[in-house]
Amino acid sequence: MDAPAVSSAPGASKHKGTLLIVDDEEGPRQSLRVIFKDDYQIFLAADGPSAIELAQNNQIDVAILDIRMAGMSGLEVLERLKYVDPGIEVVMMTAFETTDTMRQALRLRACDYINKPFDLATMRTAVASAMQRATLESEIHTNAEKLQELLSELQNQKIEEQMSQTRGEIYASIIHDINGPLTVISGFIQLMNQRIGNSTRLEVEDLEFIKDRLKTITRQVTNCIEISRRYLGFLRRHGDDTPRVPFNQLLTDLNHLVRVHPSRPNHQFNVRPLVEDFAVRMNGTDVIQILLNLTVNAFQCIPQPHTVEIEAGLLTEPLNLTAFKDSPQERLLNVENFRNTAPLLSVSVRDNGPGIPPEILPKIFQPYFSTKSSKQGTGLGLNIVQRLVKEGRGALHLRTVLGQGTTFTVYFPAVPLAST
Ligand SMILES: Nc1ncnc2c1ncn2[C@@H]1O[C@H](COP(=O)(O)OP(=O)(O)OP(=O)(O)O)[C@@H](O)[C@H]1O
Ligand SMILES: [Mg+2]
Repeated sequence: MDAPAVSSAPGASKHKGTLLIVDDEEGPRQSLRVIFKDDYQIFLAADGPSAIELAQNNQIDVAILDIRMAGMSGLEVLERLKYVDPGIEVVMMTAFETTDTMRQALRLRACDYINKPFDLATMRTAVASAMQRATLESEIHTNAEKLQELLSELQNQKIEEQMSQTRGEIYASIIHDINGPLTVISGFIQLMNQRIGNSTRLEVEDLEFIKDRLKTITRQVTNCIEISRRYLGFLRRHGDDTPRVPFNQLLTDLNHLVRVHPSRPNHQFNVRPLVEDFAVRMNGTDVIQILLNLTVNAFQCIPQPHTVEIEAGLLTEPLNLTAFKDSPQERLLNVENFRNTAPLLSVSVRDNGPGIPPEILPKIFQPYFSTKSSKQGTGLGLNIVQRLVKEGRGALHLRTVLGQGTTFTVYFPAVPLAST
């Protein structure tokens, strides 16, 4: 039978603790070396400076330090050793020191002190427990470092995830927002086809009809391009050179869009513009997109004919935010980011539909939350509205009463037209 493989001696592979002995007297230095040489790796120093140098160049677990030495005092060495490596555990050897000196040593984080001439057993116990402490502390330290690394890795992972999620949402938003103008374009092309298909020759009025529709199509194509540009800008994080657009002009554009929107038929639709036009400190396409989403929601809230109204107003005072309370009927969004300085524009989109049930209200701004059929809703509309309001540093208020209807009000920072 083969002889068993030779294994290393037990404990041989284990890291041996390191012990630094600092004493200016040869006798105690050597006797301490003899006592501990089998258990630890020993470093000897006859004075403070060489002890510090040894600690700088080696990893020391425990030091035995004579408090009374010629040259640099034990207390000073203690302080410097702790400075080199706070993890070094130091056992002080004392002779006839006052309690004051001892207190000072403990304040400098010596872990123990032993009277000279020392008793062997006491010294062994003191060094063993200091060694244990040093090992434990270094383990705790290593673990804390590992934990920190892990935490920062997790944090990075989270940020990456959030970024790719936002990116995903933005791409979905482009498709969602472009869908509206595309529907209008496709409707107009159908109309033109009908007109052309029914006649063998194009009359003057046919030509006028087609020209007029082509204008709308061109506007909608521009709109699509702007939407995609805006979202790509989102991904690139644009600066603060926000354009200023006359608000009533935006309402007129919105009116055109809404009147040909497929969700519009059968419902009453009224727009009340500003009495005196003002500019909004926000991207015009964003404003239209916000209001279009809210208006389409208002049309879709119930299939039966009902009324949807848009009303714009000017506020010459900042909004009194304390007057708003979140409740099952009311919400105010983006308070933290809101630029609440007058003048402000308020635009309300009001419907007299069924209202929003309190159990649904907390979810309506979540992406992909919808109570509609998948053909009618993706659940992105209000999420986009919220994001655009936040981007423009506006605020969004919602009030809903079951059986009576819902009003969404957007507050935008405004500027007088003259200053644009
Ligand atoms: N004016 C309203 N009246 C009643 N419920 C509303 C109103 N506006 C929004 N909601 C509710 O909020 C939900 C989320 O609206 P959101 O605009 O985000 O998505 P959607 O309209 O369902 O789909 P999408 O806008 O993506 O086509 C709606 O499904 C609806 O239940
Ligand atoms: Mg919607």
